[in-house]
Amino acid sequence: MKSIKALAPATVANVSCGFDIFGFAVESPADEVIVTLTEKPGVIIKEITGDDGRLPLEATRNTSGVAVEAFLKAIGSKLGAEIVLHKKLPLGSGMGSSAASSVAALIAINHLYDNPYTREHLLPFAMEAERIACGSAHADNVAPSLLGGFVLIRSYAPLDVTKIPTPPGLYCTLVHPHMELKTEDSRRVLKSTIPMKDAITQWGNIAGMVVGLMKPDYGLITRSLQDVIAEPIRAVLIPGFDAIKATAIQHGALGSGISGSGPTIFCLSTDLETAEKVGEEIQRQFVNMKLKSDVFVSKINQTGARIVE
Ligand code: HSE
Repeated sequence: MKSIKALAPATVANVSCGFDIFGFAVESPADEVIVTLTEKPGVIIKEITGDDGRLPLEATRNTSGVAVEAFLKAIGSKLGAEIVLHKKLPLGSGMGSSAASSVAALIAINHLYDNPYTREHLLPFAMEAERIACGSAHADNVAPSLLGGFVLIRSYAPLDVTKIPTPPGLYCTLVHPHMELKTEDSRRVLKSTIPMKDAITQWGNIAGMVVGLMKPDYGLITRSLQDVIAEPIRAVLIPGFDAIKATAIQHGALGSGISGSGPTIFCLSTDLETAEKVGEEIQRQFVNMKLKSDVFVSKINQTGARIVE
């Protein structure tokens, strides 16, 4: 039976001000998924590597399995699928780990069926997998991982997703401290209502971010990379967060914040040298707190998930 391998990249969700509505893809790391069609109906996860045995092998509890099952059901397939998942993204990192697995699996199964769905039409399957992973079908990791680029989710019902052009010289630094935060827990700590004053600040920043990226206007991007809703609550979960953010700015980053639900920190810079320097300095701060960390520097990944063989 036919078999195909696909890669889906890590993503930065929220991008400070755009809780659940902004996300962008980076070049690495990327999860690798191999999907094989089977005569026997049903989805089987044959093997997972890179997770220290922590992810469930039951297809109904694993994001790649859930996404492929939803796909097969939607097209009314009589066949089944076998999945091998090579995890390259750290779990509970805020880099869109669950999203990368489901997106890679979806790209692969769609390819095996000669692409009956556009990438936009695959989104709801990946969102369903997010619901299994963290209790919420948010799209700000799956959409950029699938579509590439910087994505705005203008609306969830109906789903309305669009890409925002970004300056070609924009670099992202990700610093992942070796600790885990579950998205489900990081969502639970948030308040369910926000004061009007904060809403107005946030609207201004979201609009400023869009204009800043499109013009481009780096000063406007810097002023807009502020979050008065989720970050103040979640920052306490990340050791030394305020000092780290200040360090990033001091060493030339346009801005810095929590990647998704954390604990990874993202920074945006206008050149590679600054992006690398900022990564080193943040890593040094984590060392001072006895925390190991990994640094990933790349441009914004404009193409998203891809078939490799
Ligand atoms: N928007 C989501 C959140 C992203 O912040 O909870 C999770 O990666």
